[in-house]
Amino acid sequence: MKRALCPGTFDPVTAGHLDIIERASSLFDEVIVGVALSADKGGGPLFSVEERCAFIRDATAHVPHVTVRPFDTLLVDFAQEMDARVIIKGLRAVTDFEREFQMAQLNYRLDQNIETIFIMSIPEYAYLSSSAVKEIARHGGDVRGLVPDAVCEALATRLKQSR
Ligand code: PNS
Repeated sequence: MKRALCPGTFDPVTAGHLDIIERASSLFDEVIVGVALSADKGGGPLFSVEERCAFIRDATAHVPHVTVRPFDTLLVDFAQEMDARVIIKGLRAVTDFEREFQMAQLNYRLDQNIETIFIMSIPEYAYLSSSAVKEIARHGGDVRGLVPDAVCEALATRLKQSR
């Protein structure tokens, strides 16, 4: 049984994240999407961890063997708890590399039994990030196709409230 963990903040989940989760699910028997609380990340997430998990659950309902779980611990501890030896991360461009390299090295130092594996994003999503989506939505731009429809609606509502 090969189980992989796809961790992230997913604030909110994008089409790029979903592509990585789907491709991971075709490579592993089971994929756990770990949604980090990330309360201290850049002024705090726009969506609660429960909302972020719900968006991913809805958007991956058709993908076999995917489970979505929140976590607020070290990633390697969560991986151990979930009995996952593989961490999957998406890589978009060289700009991602430095941060991902640092995280992978630190995680390796913390637990050498856990491997980090990278899946390259497809060119269509190489430019896509949760922060870019929020910025576009904040200025009233169209984010359809970049995030699930439910996220488009939630962004519009949440950002209208915060204006
Ligand atoms: O969506 P992101 O920002 O790429 O996700 C980053 C995440 C959540 C994977 C990372 O911040 C993380 O692993 N957080 C858990 C705390 C931890 O283990 N930190 C040390 C890893 S360097």
